Amino acid sequence: MERLQKAMAEAGVASRRASEKLIVQGKVMVNGKKVTELGTKVGVHDEITVNGVPIQREKHVYYLLNKPRGVISSAHDDKGRRTVVDIIHDEDINQRIYPVGRLDYDTTGILLLTNDGALANKLMHPRFEVDKTYVAKVKGIIKNEDLKQLRLGVMVDGQKTKPAKTKLLSVDREKKTSIVQLTIHEGRNHQVKNMFKAVDHPVIKLHRETYGFLNLQGVQAGEFRALKPDELQRLKKIK
Ligand code: URA
Repeated sequence: MERLQKAMAEAGVASRRASEKLIVQGKVMVNGKKVTELGTKVGVHDEITVNGVPIQREKHVYYLLNKPRGVISSAHDDKGRRTVVDIIHDEDINQRIYPVGRLDYDTTGILLLTNDGALANKLMHPRFEVDKTYVAKVKGIIKNEDLKQLRLGVMVDGQKTKPAKTKLLSVDREKKTSIVQLTIHEGRNHQVKNMFKAVDHPVIKLHRETYGFLNLQGVQAGEFRALKPDELQRLKKIK
């Protein structure tokens, strides 16, 4: 059982706050009875209508995708480019899903997709931001000093980044490039690229290899799999 406004928000009717308003305004019925109490709980089989229109209750689904380069991390793209949701729908999975956070068009790696708005919002909230590990190929031979700066925090859009972890994986002295592993728990827009830009080592290639305890083992670029029940339990338990 879950709160009526949560069920409404999860079904995409409106935000929880706006759903509460609809309830108080007497626009919501559960199994044919008008409900105006905010504490009302509903189960998966209860029929909910808003302004007389039944809402679509969905079973929650959770996928882990290895995002390939050249796809957009959103449900729709105005320019008609292929999205991460298209990849999953191509396999005949027709549920309305959306990505938990974003990876840039040219970034590859691990991305979660779900129709569980409550869990997605929780995972994206700065308070719960889970550790994410990226591998970046950057221009130039990166110095220890720069790595230290990345760990301690650099200024991005006028705000210092939170402590991070770094590991220098390799350098190519001929091509003058370095490969660095960076672990952060924030999720600002273009954060990794901006962090490396701040230390004058622009990113050439970016891949996200882990999301919290989840990794891409056995999932090739462009492939996805459903989360296992124990993985889901662990994600839900993140506090
Ligand atoms: N940081 C970036 O700069 N790009 C991504 O895609 C993810 C994190």
